[in-house]
Amino acid sequence: MSKIIILSGAGISAESGISTFRDNGGLWDEYDVNVVCNYDSLKKNEKLTLEFYDKRRADLKHKKPNHAHNILAKLKQKYPDDIALITQNVDDLFEKTTLTRDDVLHLHGFLTEVSCRNPRCSTIYDIGYNKIYNFNDGRCLECNSRLRPNIVFFGERAPEYEKLYKAFAECEMFVVIGTSGAVIQTDSFLNAKIKRSILNNLEPSDSINDKRYSKVLFKPASEAIDEIAMDIEDFLTQGI
Ligand code: APR
Repeated sequence: MSKIIILSGAGISAESGISTFRDNGGLWDEYDVNVVCNYDSLKKNEKLTLEFYDKRRADLKHKKPNHAHNILAKLKQKYPDDIALITQNVDDLFEKTTLTRDDVLHLHGFLTEVSCRNPRCSTIYDIGYNKIYNFNDGRCLECNSRLRPNIVFFGERAPEYEKLYKAFAECEMFVVIGTSGAVIQTDSFLNAKIKRSILNNLEPSDSINDKRYSKVLFKPASEAIDEIAMDIEDFLTQGI
């Protein structure tokens, strides 16, 4: 269990050119997110839904991690047991640093992966930036059932949330970067055990009470990250 939890959201990848959820731009203008990210759409509007995810996956190919991803990767490598990197993002920008898939907990899935729809199988495949149908005609190699993006759709259970809740049992410092708190209510984790908390977003959010955080940085993550990294090192080495 880690002393420090760093929870990131779409804002950390914004400077790498990936649109946030509650902003507009790119694919978000082309598709109605409330439709194509909804579990119902996977069943009723499958072609459109898979096409949207194919495009998001392809779009990721040339996206690069920014300074914030790189600094957090260095910290995680320096203090692997003390720091838990947890993200709501489905992009692979942390994994494009020196980190691996196992170093980061992706709460909402991972865009380059597809999974078998047969609940008794559920095998996961990493298909890179390719279209789902270009991988074995969109079928599982184990049981031939149809594959789907390995993404948590709106209206679906998020199995990794259990790990998130467990991680807070030992957490003493909580760092929030680039999330509006609209889906995961970050304030709710500020319990008595948390001695220090940092919030970094571009601007205040209706879903976050920023007065509850020890430090608030309203600026781009790539500008805030050096100060955040120093605070994390101070906390780990001096307990402040
Ligand atoms: N640096 C820091 N923060 C930023 C930056 C930046 N360069 N750009 C934007 N932000 C902040 C915004 O101020 C906002 O608070 O990032 C946040 C983005 O909020 P959302 O778009 O709501 O993204 P997120 O909180 O990650 O969404 C959570 O919602 O739709 C679901 O499953 C989806 O994982 C997603 C979840």
